[in-house]
Amino acid sequence: MSKPKPGNWKFLLVVATLLLTSFFPISATAVGETQSPSPSPTESISPSPSPTPVVSPSPTPSPTTTATVIRGYDISTANSLSVVVNKKLPLNPLTYLPRGKAKIGNVWVTKATAEAYQNLRAAVSSQKLGNLCVNSGFRSFESQKIIHARQVARLGRTAGEKLAARPGHSEHQTGLAIDVSTTALGCRISNFGASRASKWIAKNAWQYGFIVRYPSNAKTAVTGYVWEPWHLRFVGLDLASQMQAEKITTMEEFFGLPAAPKY
Ligand code: DAL
Ligand code: ZN
Repeated sequence: MSKPKPGNWKFLLVVATLLLTSFFPISATAVGETQSPSPSPTESISPSPSPTPVVSPSPTPSPTTTATVIRGYDISTANSLSVVVNKKLPLNPLTYLPRGKAKIGNVWVTKATAEAYQNLRAAVSSQKLGNLCVNSGFRSFESQKIIHARQVARLGRTAGEKLAARPGHSEHQTGLAIDVSTTALGCRISNFGASRASKWIAKNAWQYGFIVRYPSNAKTAVTGYVWEPWHLRFVGLDLASQMQAEKITTMEEFFGLPAAPKY
């Protein structure tokens, strides 16, 4: 019997291995490796074809958030006429800047607010109640920071914060709020509440789409602010009329929101 040549042994070994592995495949577990969790169906092991590029308009739109709509009004979107801004509900984003502003004297507001104000002013004038003027309108996050700090320094935190909102929490930042007075009062807001113009405005501003947003000291527990007869908030004729019809004077109560006396 001839001695098998080393080359033949190698050949036979390869054939035998191939036959065995085709019937008993070697798995990772069989050789003692830990089995990793199988990839989820969405994952692919082999390089997947690159996804079809999504053409997005530039600049990249900000992430969409779902608006909070109550009684048919959007109360959460910063540029909505019905946005509720208070100590519990800051603006989103906190540094929001309104677009499409217009000037009243040297004060900026939104275009719709400016138009409504001009109609209100004409009505006050035709009632022979004097000439309205605007003491304050749009305020940026930064300017509100200064106003808030000044009132807190002057009156202390508790009293100061019943007059001035923290930045990001002021309606003035929306461009929908104006502080009004009359030219006879040098456009100062301090004595405006005692004027005939103020009394007429409290009753009639709704017809022009405005509400006296901080309507009395009795509502401080709801709004967080003392009576501010000069602070008019433009909400649009639709909402102002509805609030008037239901004799509800605060946005918090109209929308069934929690009172916002504190941050
Ligand atoms: N005076 C109002 C509350 C404000 O600061 O926005
Ligand atoms: Zn104001």
